[in-house]
Amino acid sequence: MEKGGFKMFNIVSSWNKRRRSRSLDQLNPWVYKPAELWQAKEQSPPPRKRSCTMVFTLKEMEEATSMFSDRNLVGKGGFGRVYRGVLKDGQIVAIKKMDLPTSKHADGEREFRVEIDILSRLDHPNLVTLIGYCADGKHRFVVYEFMPRGNLQDILNGIGEVKMDWPLRLRIALGAARALAYLHSSTAVGVPVVHRDFKSSNILLTEHFEAKISDFGLAKLMQQDQDLHTTTRVLGTFGYFDPEYALVLAVDADHRCVSFQTGKLTLQSDVYAFGVVLLELLTGRRAIDLSQGPQEQNLIVGIHQVVGDRKRLRRVVDRDMAKGSYTVESVSMFAALAARCVSFDGAARPSMPDCVKELQFIMYANMKI
Ligand SMILES: Nc1ncnc2c1ncn2[C@@H]1O[C@H](COP(=O)(O)OP(=O)(O)OP(=O)(O)O)[C@@H](O)[C@H]1O
Ligand SMILES: [Mg+2]
Repeated sequence: MEKGGFKMFNIVSSWNKRRRSRSLDQLNPWVYKPAELWQAKEQSPPPRKRSCTMVFTLKEMEEATSMFSDRNLVGKGGFGRVYRGVLKDGQIVAIKKMDLPTSKHADGEREFRVEIDILSRLDHPNLVTLIGYCADGKHRFVVYEFMPRGNLQDILNGIGEVKMDWPLRLRIALGAARALAYLHSSTAVGVPVVHRDFKSSNILLTEHFEAKISDFGLAKLMQQDQDLHTTTRVLGTFGYFDPEYALVLAVDADHRCVSFQTGKLTLQSDVYAFGVVLLELLTGRRAIDLSQGPQEQNLIVGIHQVVGDRKRLRRVVDRDMAKGSYTVESVSMFAALAARCVSFDGAARPSMPDCVKELQFIMYANMKI
């Protein structure tokens, strides 16, 4: 940790203490808090993550990325650009350079650190590890462990040479389900956390194709109403958004839904998005594919007809998968689970722990090849 880091960490911690002691109604709504949950249970302080979140200076971020050279640019998303970086100790990291709304520059520094402090409490093998952050002047960076295989969406879309067979897809689905089940449980920060922007590009892969999900909770940092193309009220991404809770008004350049909420985002909204990712894994198609005919553009349209109809199901299964890698029983069960996750009615969707159990069962059903 850099010199001023410890002092800064103390400021964050004491602010957090004061923040926790406030009425829960006043707490930021980025963490989902069903009333019955916190009324019924005493909030016990969650265990702190073992490793310490590091605080970096702008200079350190510049040095790690060779002055944000394009050579180190790994991608661009709704939060800003992501660079591959090498820290002083040789550790390879991903550095997310956040384009924060102007309003955040004025008084958002403390809020940014508090949010990061909360994110740093999350610790699960299927979540991308948060290594640290930089809040230097107007600059904000989030530093994560580097995921060498990039994101699931790119692999499914054939960017790169890798072809994924069914057992690998099941493993990825199970890893992602476990991560969401962990976020939704109250073990992490004392209350359930809604991801808010779960999608295949936020499922990153290790060298050995273990799935880790990223960007948990970060949507909160970007929720100011600003220009459509930069910092809109980000509630999710088009194609993954829970239809029960939003009236979609517009879509920005990054295919993000810009909407007024008709209800609040719940854990079940993540389950909906998870169902869309299951369908992507099954079919190899994008959640929204504007190059298809009007009936095929949206992946979830038609899923209910496929369930229970083996002939139709065979037609939608991704041809990139070796036929011998899956059993019809296992893909049928998988499609049925996906269909339940994308039910219009949130109450009809399974919980994430249920998804974990079902996926384990589906894996077992695939062993009979
Ligand atoms: N920890 C990481 N390790 C390696 N690559 C990463 C890491 N985090 C993000 N990336 C890559 O950077 C690119 C941009 O990521 P980013 O999260 O900014 O955008 P996104 O996931 O497409 O959309 P969103 O902004 O909604 O999350 C993606 O292609 C992703 O694969
Ligand atoms: Mg992302």
